[in-house]
Amino acid sequence: MRALTVRPRVADSARLDDVPVPDAGSVLVRGLAVGICGTDREIVDGDYGQAPPGEDRLVLGHEALGRVERVDGGGGVHVGDLVVPMVRHPDPVPCANCAAGEWDMCRNGQYTEHGILRRHGFAADYYRLEAERLVRVPHSLGMLAVLIEPASIVAKAWEHIERIGARALWKPRTALVTGAGPIGLLAALLGRQRGLAVHVFDRDPTGIKPELVRALGAEYHVGELMDVSDGADVIVECTGASAVIWDVLSRSARSGIVCLTGVSHGGQRMSVDVAQLNRTIVLENDVVFGTVNANRRHHEAAVDALCRADASWLARMITRRVPLAEWRAALRDEPDDVKVVLDLEA
Ligand code: BGC
Repeated sequence: MRALTVRPRVADSARLDDVPVPDAGSVLVRGLAVGICGTDREIVDGDYGQAPPGEDRLVLGHEALGRVERVDGGGGVHVGDLVVPMVRHPDPVPCANCAAGEWDMCRNGQYTEHGILRRHGFAADYYRLEAERLVRVPHSLGMLAVLIEPASIVAKAWEHIERIGARALWKPRTALVTGAGPIGLLAALLGRQRGLAVHVFDRDPTGIKPELVRALGAEYHVGELMDVSDGADVIVECTGASAVIWDVLSRSARSGIVCLTGVSHGGQRMSVDVAQLNRTIVLENDVVFGTVNANRRHHEAAVDALCRADASWLARMITRRVPLAEWRAALRDEPDDVKVVLDLEA
């Protein structure tokens, strides 16, 4: 079968390989689609990722949609089901959080992640998994279900925002989202689903992003973040860019919550007044927190959010569908891209 593989930590080592269909795992899944994200580009650039123990190549792809082809044993999935595999496996110790199904909050860092850390990914014609690693998705979502993994990241972010907010009276009205990539747009969608006034800040003045934001009933801003960010009850930072991060840290409303979702590159130094930032955070009871990955509850919340969303809006987020054979084109960043998807059946 075909599989898009890389040699982790070696730039430009991606290639389409012919590999055997895996034999471990009781559910055989036919790959239908894989979304490409910043993490995949980092791995392809040689900056991140690890192959499974004893191997030197890693099958790429962690935002996936597949169809169950065969089930050897029980487990709640059936032939023909549309499924989204979950990226992270609990650590083997397991830590208390992983043992409780909260592997997204793993305490010892020994977790593994498909297509990222020590487990093959899903940019392949077939993969095998245990049923407990799969989330069944409604057929009505069709190809749009490839957005469930990124939506699960955002569903976790909002869940944690709400849990933190519940430390006192919590009646948020406004949210600011920085970055109108897939994570930012999905964060804006979930903010609107919560009835909040949502402002999205991005540097792109034209193209489809402003249209997608406005179609949600949210406001799109370019220019100076300072002009839009004062006083948001919730800020979801999705750029990972240090200047934007610094700007949002001190700009939430009193008792505001800043949620950081962007995995930044190191080496973006700036000179800042930490004491002043500390003073603001303390005197305003502000919270700044980071979030990564998602557990089953968040995937289910993501399914629910996508089912409630306008399907044509979700479809417009997928700006390019590229056959697996043309994977090089999928990995190239093009100006009007939002979400690029590898089509495994084309
Ligand atoms: C994935 C997460 C993963 C994170 C860190 C993201 O791109 O969506 O599931 O935990 O990378 O490896």
